[in-house]
Amino acid sequence: MKQHFTKPITDIIRNRHSVRTYNPEILDQELKDSLREYAADIKGPFASKIRLEIIDSLDLGEKSGGKIGTYGIIKGANTFIAGVADKSEYNMEQMGYCLEKLVLYAASLGLGTCWLGGTFKRSQFAELVGLKENEFIPVVTPLGYPADKRTLFESFMRRAAGSDNRKGWNELFFDGSFDNPLKQESAEQYADVLEMVRLAPSASNKQPWRILKQGNEYHFYLEQTKGYGGALGFNIQKIDMGIAMCHFEMTALEAELKGNWLVKAQSPLIDQVQNHDYIVSWIMQ
Ligand SMILES: Cc1cc2nc3c(=O)[nH]c(=O)nc-3n(C[C@H](O)[C@H](O)[C@H](O)COP(=O)(O)O)c2cc1C
Repeated sequence: MKQHFTKPITDIIRNRHSVRTYNPEILDQELKDSLREYAADIKGPFASKIRLEIIDSLDLGEKSGGKIGTYGIIKGANTFIAGVADKSEYNMEQMGYCLEKLVLYAASLGLGTCWLGGTFKRSQFAELVGLKENEFIPVVTPLGYPADKRTLFESFMRRAAGSDNRKGWNELFFDGSFDNPLKQESAEQYADVLEMVRLAPSASNKQPWRILKQGNEYHFYLEQTKGYGGALGFNIQKIDMGIAMCHFEMTALEAELKGNWLVKAQSPLIDQVQNHDYIVSWIMQ
């Protein structure tokens, strides 16, 4: 099998940041082909069908003035990836997992991306990807060469979302119960794996993932942010969950820590904390 990543996944994750200001140079065809080839091989842990379509503003023709619409949030990008989902269960987790794999691959090639769940023209993308009846587009990302400098507006947006701050381990990872924070030492070889989840991007940097260690299992829970994202018509924080799963699994596999995903019939914690929705578990082998 072709070796796609030439740098450790931990380096790629640590160095990735959302990029909203691009150098307007057209993306090299070879890079685009390589991304399409990688995208075609991505398989998520769930059964939902996902299409990741790489599209160019060149495909737009005259009628949109040759510009892909992001309400001024993204500057200079000519290429985008559209995440097309079906309407099945776990479609959002699957989207987060699959698109993040492609985002990290793009980052390893030196390309910038920025997950967009709200600020893009859905109808324009629907036309470009030939959207089918049972499909919709929850997210897209620009794809391109990062500009040397962020615009002032982009710096303002990063500050507004608190993009440079991540929650500490004590708020995210737990040992046996949700009132017992997991210590890095107790996570042993999984310390790096969890650290890579902590650094994951999430919508408005809400970081809604909570992970509970029980023996040889890590259970993933979603702490929904009250009143957040309701108007979108889909649960954007489940996309965040899929992104976290992607970081967890890629880091674990690189460290040769074997395991598999399992959705248990019931939340593993009986006295489940309110507002924590059980999603999935990683079972170590
Ligand atoms: C599912 C998802 C949706 C997002 N939607 C938007 C968006 O609509 N507009 C935007 O400017 N940034 C969006 N972001 C980017 C986040 O604000 C960003 O990832 C977060 O602040 C952390 O910053 P970083 O990616 O630079 O680490 C989104 C991120 C995710 C994961």
